[in-house]
Amino acid sequence: MTEIEPIVTEAQIRQRVKEMAEEIRAAYPGDKPLLVAVLKGAVFFLADLCRALGPGFPIDFLSIKAYDGERPSGAVQIRLDLATDIRGRQVLLVEDIVDSGMTLTYLYEMLSARGPSGLRVAALLLKQEAYEGSVEIDFVGFRIPSRFVVGYGLDLNEEWRNLPFVGFVKS
Ligand code: IMP
Ligand code: MG
Repeated sequence: MTEIEPIVTEAQIRQRVKEMAEEIRAAYPGDKPLLVAVLKGAVFFLADLCRALGPGFPIDFLSIKAYDGERPSGAVQIRLDLATDIRGRQVLLVEDIVDSGMTLTYLYEMLSARGPSGLRVAALLLKQEAYEGSVEIDFVGFRIPSRFVVGYGLDLNEEWRNLPFVGFVKS
């Protein structure tokens, strides 16, 4: 039977999301960026983050072609685009996890090309050693080892998203 070994607990996530909300509010004095979450995994983080941020932060979503199981599919494609025109707006891209950075790099370039007045990135999890991108990740929740994790929105073939913590898959 598959077991999940916790690496970030529910309490740690709750605490860190609160701190990240503080960091984000401080980074946008007098301004409320559009929070753009990447479906589906980042929805869980977005839901907690935007409640921790307080009133007035608009949200929107985009969906890309995701990993096929544990392996990257090689190319990133848009499956569902934003409903919002981001030209001239402050945008905060909200990601669940950054691994190689391929997805983030693609999304960052795509969103930048639309002319937002600012574009920053918040990622709950960063696999620091695997990251090959050059996009700065402005707000990082936890730096984790380069192993496949599930929970708090992250799935393995659509399973385990519901877990309130993040853990390694032990098989
Ligand atoms: P990257 O393009 O290699 O940075 O991978 C980023 C995307 O791959 C994330 O948005 C996730 O959808 C997925 N991903 C990467 N690592 C994991 C993991 O450990 N568990 C679940 N999904 C992951
Ligand atoms: Mg993702």
